[in-house]
Amino acid sequence: MSVPTPHISAKAGDFACTVLMPGDPLRSEFIAKTYLKDAVLVNDVRGVHGYTGYYKGRRVSVMASGMGQPAIGIYSYELFHFYGVEQIIRVGSCGSFHPDLHARDIIIAMGACTNGNYAAQYNLPGTFCPLADFGLVKQAAEQCEKLGVHYMVGNILSSDMFYDDANSGMQWAKMGVLGVEMESAALYCNAARAGKKALCICTVSDSFLYPEENTTAEERQVSFTKMMEVALELA
Ligand code: HPA
Repeated sequence: MSVPTPHISAKAGDFACTVLMPGDPLRSEFIAKTYLKDAVLVNDVRGVHGYTGYYKGRRVSVMASGMGQPAIGIYSYELFHFYGVEQIIRVGSCGSFHPDLHARDIIIAMGACTNGNYAAQYNLPGTFCPLADFGLVKQAAEQCEKLGVHYMVGNILSSDMFYDDANSGMQWAKMGVLGVEMESAALYCNAARAGKKALCICTVSDSFLYPEENTTAEERQVSFTKMMEVALELA
């Protein structure tokens, strides 16, 4: 397939090698306007704004993924396979199940468990373990240290359900899984299959253990500056 793709109207070369990927299109606009110099809108199909600009002289793009594995599956696939993108860094929010993680802390998702079916397409004779790129994990941890952000590195759950009738979060917590979001496993599968790099960094927006700390949608849009600085430094 050539560009534009069914979901991205950008031209060849419009995206930088590194794309930061928040879930929310408003957040991608916020990142572009707050952090990128000379940011140009390169995609707006379905309101999924994509921008390319410069951060400390390095060309970098930002585009939203939408919510859930099917959505990030589409955008990351098209960016990796048709736009020559080499690394995608998801900058998201997550719920946390870990007693040492509070609202606004950061999870670096080294691995992504899932209750979804995304990897079934590869017809593997077993269960695939979706992993982040180790170099990106290491650099993200170093940036968190440098910025003095409280963070943990480990497993996250990419759930297909936000409203989970089985309320299964604490079962995953028993296996040491740190928190829950809805996209990383599909992103890591696409990166693995394409031979490219991916990482998900999440700010804890809500804690299953400390619900009184939960952040509002407005705070989520603007209060995650530390995470964005970590991600931008990786670019
Ligand atoms: N579940 C799934 N995704 C999320 C959550 C959650 O509790 N919080 C932020 N993203």
